[in-house]
Amino acid sequence: MSLTIEAANGVGAYISNVDLQSIQPEDIARLRNALGEYGVLFFREQSLTPEAHIEFARAFGNININRFFKPTDTHPEIAEVRKEAHQANNIGEQWHTDHSYDQEPALGSILVARELPSTGGDTVFSSMFAAYDGLPANVKTRIDRLTATHSSRHAFGPEAYSDDDKDDFSGRLGNTTKATQDAVHPVAIVHPISGKRAIYVNPDFTVRVNELSEGDSRSLLDYLYEHCQHEQFTHRFQWQSGSVAFWDNRATWHKALNDYPGQARLMHRITVEGERLH
Ligand code: SIN
Repeated sequence: MSLTIEAANGVGAYISNVDLQSIQPEDIARLRNALGEYGVLFFREQSLTPEAHIEFARAFGNININRFFKPTDTHPEIAEVRKEAHQANNIGEQWHTDHSYDQEPALGSILVARELPSTGGDTVFSSMFAAYDGLPANVKTRIDRLTATHSSRHAFGPEAYSDDDKDDFSGRLGNTTKATQDAVHPVAIVHPISGKRAIYVNPDFTVRVNELSEGDSRSLLDYLYEHCQHEQFTHRFQWQSGSVAFWDNRATWHKALNDYPGQARLMHRITVEGERLH
């Protein structure tokens, strides 16, 4: 039976009749197009070994080894998104799109559930295609001409952590001295796969809109951030054992809910290299 694609509410698509452990080349092409169309792909009941996770990611591009996340002990290509039962903070709680601080931001990430809490720990995605389409015409015209600066400094640099957070994140996030990346991208990009327009600013990494005063930049970003979170653009993905999500950073935001105190959660993430955005 051939792979099936079913649109999810808000953003994304559920993909069935596919085994990611032994994916066929024709399915890779369909998944790449689906990523450009839907922004995030959800898979259930997979049993993906770390080696097959790496092979699947490589079918979409080179692997970006994240500078700040702890890798697994056995595979440097795989970053751990980990929260232990005694830890307060999770990783990725605020709305963001990974790697927007890079000159050539990552295409996307493939997240595999390895250890889940009994309840909670969902990931929420928002469609930046739908958010762009939902803007009034005058705002579209305005942002189509603007660029924004993104940075890793405030998010992963030494100033990112209070003393308490430093202890809490110790062993999970690090390399604060490597947080030196700044990048300028259009506020609204043309998506490299689908050619559709998408909003490309996010609360975690965007620092300011370059062509505006500090105050006007803040007002525009606040307006866009509120708009992009509207429920009609979002989908809440409930993880199960065997779940995999593959999101396109140029088409979506995501945030990981931190609602499982006293329980552990471990995900394996591989990030695929992308390209300069226009
Ligand atoms: C991330 O932001 O990359 C992690 C998302 C998650 O853990 O659900």
